[in-house]
Amino acid sequence: MESELGKGTENQISSKVEKIKQEFDAELFRARGHQVVDLLADYLSRVSNRQVEAVLPDIVPLAMLDQWPADFPDQGNGDWLKLVQQAVAQSNHLHHPRYVGHQTTAPLPLATLMEFVSDFLNNSSAVYEMGPADVAMEKRVIDWMAGVIGFDRHADGVFTSGGTIGNLTALLAARQVQSSTNAWTEGVDSKEGLAVLVSEQCHYSVSRAISIMGLGENAVHLLPVNDTFQIGLPDVEKTYRHLHQHGRKVMALVVNGCSTATGTYDPLEDLAAFCRQNHIWLHVDGAHGAVALLSKKYRGLLRGIEQADSVVWDAHKMLLMPALTTAVIFRNGDHSYDAFAQKASYLFSKSAHEEWYNFAHRTIECTKSMMGLKLYICLSVLGTRFFCDYVDAMYDLTQEFAQKIKARADFELAALPQSNIICFRYLKRGLDESGLNDLQQQIRNCILRTGRFYLVQTDLKGKRFLRCTIINPLTTIADLIELLDVVATSA
Ligand SMILES: Cc1ncc(COP(=O)(O)O)c(C=O)c1O
Repeated sequence: MESELGKGTENQISSKVEKIKQEFDAELFRARGHQVVDLLADYLSRVSNRQVEAVLPDIVPLAMLDQWPADFPDQGNGDWLKLVQQAVAQSNHLHHPRYVGHQTTAPLPLATLMEFVSDFLNNSSAVYEMGPADVAMEKRVIDWMAGVIGFDRHADGVFTSGGTIGNLTALLAARQVQSSTNAWTEGVDSKEGLAVLVSEQCHYSVSRAISIMGLGENAVHLLPVNDTFQIGLPDVEKTYRHLHQHGRKVMALVVNGCSTATGTYDPLEDLAAFCRQNHIWLHVDGAHGAVALLSKKYRGLLRGIEQADSVVWDAHKMLLMPALTTAVIFRNGDHSYDAFAQKASYLFSKSAHEEWYNFAHRTIECTKSMMGLKLYICLSVLGTRFFCDYVDAMYDLTQEFAQKIKARADFELAALPQSNIICFRYLKRGLDESGLNDLQQQIRNCILRTGRFYLVQTDLKGKRFLRCTIINPLTTIADLIELLDVVATSA
């Protein structure tokens, strides 16, 4: 009786699994793989040759939602290629040379293939046993990046899922090191009055991290920026003294290398010396701009970074990787273990330091995607010079674009660019500041409707600017000159 029942159940299971097994058929996978690569290669050819009409398809969110109903059938109909074609057509076309918007890169096609390999293997690099090769690749790339920063062999770090989490990870370590109590086990002692000095041009993830950490938004002390959007030592000193006199402990200074809105580098060398003298943790948010370290020409912008306590560096911005891969690197590698001071006996057996290869000790993620493979392979196959040349080319092109803007009386630059981020506005006689702000918004809306370019906007000291990140290596100066004409005719 029992074995009869067992047989029935077995049959039921095997008939259920049969269809699932088919999906794991190697030949089916091969055929689909060829189809999808063909589709993306055709797309790459069209989009990089500017044959795709609009950089960002002009579809409002609710209309887009209608295009993607949740009418999932009980039995699948299998037309996956059609759905992929639709998704590609309705996406923001980052590989279009006229994508000059946010700092998300048009990833290297090779890197996307490596990401595909990672997705297929689905190893998790948080725990060695779950992703042995990727752990080794991650470690090697982190060590390389630490060397590029100028840290010595005591440095260490990890990859994590984005600059936002990277900043949180670095500041968690800063809190653990700087606090006189053990915030990890006992919670934050508000009587200690921890404060963080932050450039007012820092990315919002910095103040968000401070709130997440339970320090409260009031722990964030924003430092003003000058006309070129940099903080200066006198303001840091003044704010530090004021807080000190009021019994507050300044835990960290967070600076930009470079900032999101204007791409500006803070003067790290002076600030680093002050931090050292006053035992302040220096965190450099180099999510976008740390890459300048690879360039002989632009490396000087980060002079002093080797004295930072922690640095965040996103590979999915200026290292041409698909999202997400962020390095969080500590000058004193031991501090990498301070961010998350927790133990999980089912994952780990030894003390955290003995287990450098179990990154979960040091990352917020438990399951963590394979972040090392794509970068390790691209660095190995393409060489580091490839990335140096890319940074030089993008930064140089942005300088050239700035000169074109300066030469036109109807445009104004927010500041001369230091990186590949540039902000400018269109001027129209007779308009006051508020009118000019509205005008920039109208111009952007008009350009987005036509789809001829994708650019963004930002408000700086009460003035609205159009903002571009020149991040696609296929963008040319001719594209950018045309952008100025398009802006002028949209006004
Ligand atoms: C300077 C800086 N820091 C942090 C971030 C956040 O990075 P992510 O979007 O990878 O979380 C950004 C994103 O634009 C940034 O520019």
